[in-house]
Amino acid sequence: MSLTLCNVQFSQQSDRVVYLSNPVLKSLNLAGKKTVHIKLGNETITAAVKPLKRPGHHVYLSAGVRQSIRVPKAGNVYLLQDGNNDLQLGPLIGVLCDSSFRTESNPFGGCTGFIRQLLRTGEKKAYFFAFAPRDVNWQQETINGYFLNANGSWFRRVVPLPDVVYNRLPSRRAETSSEISAFRERFTKRKIPFFNWTFFNKSDIYRMLDNDVEALKHVPDSVSKPTAEKIKEMIEKHGFLYFKPAAGSFGVGIYRLTYHPKRGYFARFRRSGSNVLLRFSNFNSMMRMLQSRHGISLSNYVSQQGIRLIEIDGCPLDFRFHMHKNGKNEWVPAGIGAKKAGRGSVTTHIKNGGSLMTPEQALGRVFGDKADEVLERAKRVSVKLSEAIERNYPHRLGELGLDIGIDQDGEVWMFEANAKPGRSIFKHPALKEQGRASLSYILDHCLYLSRFQGGKADGTT
Ligand SMILES: Nc1ncnc2c1ncn2[C@@H]1O[C@H](COP(=O)(O)OP(=O)(O)O)[C@@H](O)[C@H]1O
Ligand SMILES: [Mg+2]
Repeated sequence: MSLTLCNVQFSQQSDRVVYLSNPVLKSLNLAGKKTVHIKLGNETITAAVKPLKRPGHHVYLSAGVRQSIRVPKAGNVYLLQDGNNDLQLGPLIGVLCDSSFRTESNPFGGCTGFIRQLLRTGEKKAYFFAFAPRDVNWQQETINGYFLNANGSWFRRVVPLPDVVYNRLPSRRAETSSEISAFRERFTKRKIPFFNWTFFNKSDIYRMLDNDVEALKHVPDSVSKPTAEKIKEMIEKHGFLYFKPAAGSFGVGIYRLTYHPKRGYFARFRRSGSNVLLRFSNFNSMMRMLQSRHGISLSNYVSQQGIRLIEIDGCPLDFRFHMHKNGKNEWVPAGIGAKKAGRGSVTTHIKNGGSLMTPEQALGRVFGDKADEVLERAKRVSVKLSEAIERNYPHRLGELGLDIGIDQDGEVWMFEANAKPGRSIFKHPALKEQGRASLSYILDHCLYLSRFQGGKADGTT
């Protein structure tokens, strides 16, 4: 197998001809070949090979080739030769997203900016495009994708099904529909790597890790759909607990429930944009309050042992570890943000008054000289937790956002894992570089999954 980065241009002829410059012929071991199966995504045709007397890595595709395999644009991409007369152009990478309405400059709503940055990262290395479920034509096996041109505007091209799909569908609800499930299955049936599969549900993650000795010691004691008796038992055992909706996010619907043997029960939560703390003389009246606020949806809650987090100025701190799989299929903490809770807030979300810091700043204030050691340990745990989630999960994973707490003894705890992590930590000026690294990891992992990777300095494997 050999791989080389080439500059691809087009020629006018209608015959199916591929012109390859001598350095390309040499690095792909194609000297003397008369024909090849040229491939883009899931589309293949046979074309004649002709040498081109030019220095540098150049490829010219005749119009006949370009149209048949639907090459979207000229420019730099890889050529992969797998030893079987197959010459693959690409990779062709699809980012799956959606938005309830599309405009020309904003085809993916709030995700457009992120997709734009990602597609830029892939420029000169891959055919990177974005698409929504409705853009796929399953009869033809094509996608009417959105590509970015050099001046940053969008254009559409119909391309074959891609080599790999990065899923960023934004709606948790839409994603649980049978339509979207069937849609995803159609990619895997065609052996097209697809990551990540769906949003996670907290109960599923806790249940999965319950059988994993290595991960379990970093997950607080958690019970899904707890009975009132169970909640009472846990609250008395641990002193306080977090009561959270299994499919929640942004801290919505979360309660911090506390028990003081002398003073009774307390519930801290967010109500109409402010933080409240209510006291109850007995457990049942606290449960009645929860029931009156949530009714039947309480049955989709989890209760979790509360962890006494490290604090700055009396406000708890936790961390977002943004994890990626790299070009070698290994997990790496690509970006880490520290989040300090707003005063009186149950969670550290910025929306609820929290503030963002670098982990070095935050841990330095808490652990002094020991800060580096604590951070290195938390990084190792974050890799172990990602591996554990992956080995217990039936689908492919390439990115995770772990909400990590560190307690006053320096122990590391995971509160939740997000399969479509937000990117707000990368807005911090000191984390911008990590934000760029995160985009590169997505590209590298797509190169890995599509087998377009491992190039040496001269571009060959
Ligand atoms: N068991 C816990 N102990 C201490 N703090 C917690 C616990 N669970 C959650 N938190 C706090 O609440 C925040 C939100 O919880 P999380 O499980 O991440 O829910 P969400 O999906 O709403 O983000 C966490 O980032 C952390 O600050
Ligand atoms: Mg969270």
